[in-house]
Amino acid sequence: MTRLHNSIPVSIIGAGKVGSTFALLLHRSGYPIVSVISKSKKSAKRLARRVQCKVFSDSLSALSTETRFLLLTSPEETLAELIRKIGAISHIHYRGLFCAHVSGSETSDVFMPLKKRGAVPFSLHPIQTFPKNISPAEQAAKMPGITYGFEGPQSALPFARRIVRNLQGSIIVVPKEKKILYHIACVFASNYPLVMLGAAEQLFLSLHTKVQRRHVRPLVEASIENAFQLGALKALTGPAVRGSLDTIRNHIRTLKKINPHYVEVYRQSGLLAVQLARKSGRLSPRRCKTIENVFQKT
Ligand SMILES: NC(=O)c1ccc[n+]([C@@H]2O[C@H](COP(=O)([O-])OP(=O)(O)OC[C@H]3O[C@@H](n4cnc5c(N)ncnc54)[C@H](OP(=O)(O)O)[C@@H]3O)[C@@H](O)[C@H]2O)c1
Repeated sequence: MTRLHNSIPVSIIGAGKVGSTFALLLHRSGYPIVSVISKSKKSAKRLARRVQCKVFSDSLSALSTETRFLLLTSPEETLAELIRKIGAISHIHYRGLFCAHVSGSETSDVFMPLKKRGAVPFSLHPIQTFPKNISPAEQAAKMPGITYGFEGPQSALPFARRIVRNLQGSIIVVPKEKKILYHIACVFASNYPLVMLGAAEQLFLSLHTKVQRRHVRPLVEASIENAFQLGALKALTGPAVRGSLDTIRNHIRTLKKINPHYVEVYRQSGLLAVQLARKSGRLSPRRCKTIENVFQKT
């Protein structure tokens, strides 16, 4: 019978930001890391040292025979090819082998070659961001309390829950056919707010004044806090939801002159803001139509 306790031997493929964080957390929770494989031996060695693992390599042939949980943390584009190669390794015990990847967009279907040989595949996507220049230890400190999107067969769920409980997180189950939509939502939640902040920084720079990040920090933090307390529908403020038509026209004309490449994103974001205002009942459908016209036609 497959072991479900913390001594299940783990191998990690992909010693990058996510892989290093998972390896560190699993190691701290008592899981023995029995092999670390990466594209470069240097990355594999660095991570192996951190988690007291003796086996590291840039070759899949070094995967430990002891492995009972295989965690792939390499980029999603590499998964299919890696899994095909793993399926051809003769010394791995596939029956009952838990195998997972951490991609938000791929599903567990990519593991088909291993599933056919008796492995139990799933995907486990941490709903967290892993930027460059943060050490695995700092990143590990940001992991307790996060949620992991699980997708895969029911047979993998108790094991995934056990892992996540040990990482002090919780699980939401994402249906396979909705996984891509789930990932788009994560991109909107995590990446695009930063794109907007980047745009704001550029606009402040073009003022040639000394507006710095710290000056806008209270505005950004209060907006996010309000969105979590009240929901985005209620927390949203600004000219689009106030229906300040002259201000919107003025913004678009100014952007056209000074930063024309922001015009389209300003228009589309404004239109989304009007949609939110309509949903929340703050603006009548008729008023929304007028504001939308200004966004589209100025
Ligand atoms: N970054 C995030 O915020 C985030 C959040 C949630 C999920 N994810 C998912 O996590 C995965 C990894 O992302 P990451 O940010 O950790 O990327 P990363 O820091 O670039 O790490 C990827 C690692 O995979 C290794 N690798 C690349 N090709 C390989 C191959 N053919 N065989 C073995 N190892 C290979 C690289 O090796 P070398 O170092 O040896 O070159 C690198 O260490 C992706 O699927 C991503 O979607 C990322």
